[in-house]
Amino acid sequence: MAPHILVVGGTGMLAGLVEALAGDGGRLSLVSRRASTAGLPGRAFDADYHDEAAFTAALDAAVAGQGAIDLAVAWFHTLKLAAPRRLAERVGTPAASGRLFQVLGSAVADPARPDRLRTAAAVADGLPDCRLRQVVLGFRVEAGAARWLTDQEISGGVLRAVREDLPFSVVGQVEPWSARP
Ligand SMILES: NC(=O)c1ccc[n+]([C@@H]2O[C@H](COP(=O)([O-])OP(=O)(O)OC[C@H]3O[C@@H](n4cnc5c(N)ncnc54)[C@H](OP(=O)(O)O)[C@@H]3O)[C@@H](O)[C@H]2O)c1
Repeated sequence: MAPHILVVGGTGMLAGLVEALAGDGGRLSLVSRRASTAGLPGRAFDADYHDEAAFTAALDAAVAGQGAIDLAVAWFHTLKLAAPRRLAERVGTPAASGRLFQVLGSAVADPARPDRLRTAAAVADGLPDCRLRQVVLGFRVEAGAARWLTDQEISGGVLRAVREDLPFSVVGQVEPWSARP
């Protein structure tokens, strides 16, 4: 059976990734506040990740409808929420582990804060069925000018990480840190 792929925040900069994974034959579940109005492939579950009960109910409805989560890709504006852990708890099963791609903003690459990547990874601590991967969104320097990534670059970079199953990757660059926009 095609893998069940759940995307949190797939209606924004990850929409291109959602389209590509659906094109690969994945069974998509999209969780965000307005997923049902985005016109993207897959089943939509409208929920705000600040509302733990609603978000958990959306995840459980997605699993009830399409089975265990084989692959999750998640963009949360902050990880200081219960939602990222609730998601990690639902990735994979004892019979077949799953993968969780955590999409992270450039702040986790701040050399003055080497703790941030480890803190982010803690979302999967003690969950043997959830294999965590991290994708850091960096920036680009072109003709001497720094800029943030476009949606297309972000979807493409996260898609590459998923397809190549990269444990850790950076889209664009995070060094030199002083060059960021
Ligand atoms: N390093 C970089 O270069 C970098 C990093 C980050 C962002 N950006 C750029 O900045 C732009 C804006 O970024 P963005 O952070 O607003 O991301 P975005 O992906 O454009 O939008 C946020 C996504 O998260 C969902 N979402 C937001 N709040 C939510 C909530 N409370 N509960 C559930 N889902 C929620 C949104 O869907 P709903 O509206 O349906 O809830 C949407 O799918 C992007 O277009 C991107 O190109 C660049």
